[in-house]
Amino acid sequence: MIKYYVGYCQNKMDKLHKMERTRKKLDPNIQKTTYDRDAKLFKEKSQQLSTWIYIGGPEIDKFAKSLPKGETVVWDQGSASGRVVKRLIENGVKPENIIGVEISPDQVAIARKEIPQATFIVGDLATKHLKDNSIDAATQHMVCEHLDDATLNKVNEFTFDALKPGGRYIVVLTHPSKTAISSGLSGSGSFTTTFPWGGEGLNYHRTREDLIKAYKDAGFEIDGVKDLKMPVEAKKTHPDDYQKYQKYPYIRISLDMHKPE
Ligand SMILES: C[S@@+](CC[C@H](N)C(=O)[O-])C[C@H]1O[C@@H](n2cnc3c(N)ncnc32)[C@H](O)[C@@H]1O
Repeated sequence: MIKYYVGYCQNKMDKLHKMERTRKKLDPNIQKTTYDRDAKLFKEKSQQLSTWIYIGGPEIDKFAKSLPKGETVVWDQGSASGRVVKRLIENGVKPENIIGVEISPDQVAIARKEIPQATFIVGDLATKHLKDNSIDAATQHMVCEHLDDATLNKVNEFTFDALKPGGRYIVVLTHPSKTAISSGLSGSGSFTTTFPWGGEGLNYHRTREDLIKAYKDAGFEIDGVKDLKMPVEAKKTHPDDYQKYQKYPYIRISLDMHKPE
């Protein structure tokens, strides 16, 4: 009897806890405060993360290499201290043709210092920053999970407008199968997470179907969706991470798309 009662109470507590998590709103100002607070840590640690070394970085490399050489203009969304921008440059995109938009002024200050030839704007991606049909390609790495549905729809609308017809867009983010496990949520909603560089902050879980639908609804044509795991090479170089990530079916999802001609 006591066992059933304890089980019943635990169930109620779990439900209340889950409701509390889904109620939290993803205020862009919280993102700003979180990333200002973590700016130095993020700069120091983010390039050494196994997920960047084995998954995120190579995805950006492949995308950058597939872009036409020359005067390709690229918009990096949520550019932080410039980790993605550096990779674009290493792969042949001219720094003067790169625009980063980032909500955290402290991150932008670091990026401007590190890559003075590129342009970095402090701003919310859910606000229009770039002219219509002015961009050849856009990159977004590990940002989408910070955007709730209303914000994501705005970001998609402005990205679609800013891209030239035929313009390419890559979005890489935490895989929905991972955020489902970390959050305990079955439907879309926000939850508190501990970032790999140490700080805590809000993330947003949406299902794989909802995620792809958001881009299709915005008008993008999806060219490829990849469900990505930590490759076996990481077992040697990052054994703890490799082990930690085994409990998730996938850890990143990559969506490659374009604006129709
Ligand atoms: C996990 S970091 C990834 C940074 C970068 N893309 C990278 O991979 O190195 C997420 C970044 O998105 C930024 N961000 C979150 N919401 C944003 C918004 N609404 N507008 C602009 N930047 C945002 C955060 O401030 C943070 O710098």
